[in-house]
Amino acid sequence: MAAIPIDGTALARTLREGFRDRVTALAAAGHQPGLAVLLVGGDPASQVYVRNKVNACAAAGLLSERISLPADTGPEVLLARIRELNADPRIHGILVQLPLPRHFDETAVLDAVAPDKDVDGFHPENVGALVQGRARFIPCTPYGVLRMLEHAGVNPAGQEAVVIGRSNIVGKPMALLLTARDATVTVCHSRTRDLRCHTRRADLLVVATGRPRMVTGDMLKPGAVVIDVGINRGADGKLCGDVDYESCREVASRITPVPGGVGPMTITMLLENTIVAAERRAGIRS
Ligand code: GUN
Repeated sequence: MAAIPIDGTALARTLREGFRDRVTALAAAGHQPGLAVLLVGGDPASQVYVRNKVNACAAAGLLSERISLPADTGPEVLLARIRELNADPRIHGILVQLPLPRHFDETAVLDAVAPDKDVDGFHPENVGALVQGRARFIPCTPYGVLRMLEHAGVNPAGQEAVVIGRSNIVGKPMALLLTARDATVTVCHSRTRDLRCHTRRADLLVVATGRPRMVTGDMLKPGAVVIDVGINRGADGKLCGDVDYESCREVASRITPVPGGVGPMTITMLLENTIVAAERRAGIRS
């Protein structure tokens, strides 16, 4: 029997409707949530992601400021802009779109964002808090995945969870979050010797590799829940994930599509984190 899709677009819409009252209350109290998005250089995919983030802010009633800097911007200029935003009371969240051009030290840039405005959850203080199970901001993509699992009635406790990919943005925080929810977690990556032996044991499989359609149906345990974090453009110009949807849907019990799966949830959790930051500033939550 074919897997039931987990519809990220529908869940994102529901969650964003729920934001409306919180944003209205904050704005009435003089704390309209504000997000600054910094983009350095002209990478076409990053431009699309940033445009989607700014548009989502506008639709949800958040203030957004898009700051585009040329690719040859010096690191000091970017750091100075971040320091200005750290001190700007209209701005509650700061996001530096990654990847940065190669001459930047990405770690130094992320370290410069004030931890209480770090809505990506990438500052070491926030990463440390996440490791200890007392997260202040959960990175948006893994946070979106958790909310999708919750909505689909999938409880990770006691399950064999396999995460493919070990990035700071997705794989590592995803593994921590699933561990905190009592899954038994294995992290696989490009040097994993026998990937299939791990994926075949997975009750829950999260794939974040950036390699189009690399997970196929024959690699799955029957009935597995499959979460596809990938967004790739195939040779035919169409979007596809890191999971081969057609073969996997025949074996899995639940599966996220691409597009319409994790993507809309990532932006939704960015809005959520920015609203939370504004609520903390307004003193209505800790
Ligand atoms: N590039 C790809 N994903 C992300 C993300 O979640 N946050 C930022 N800042 N950049 C990204």
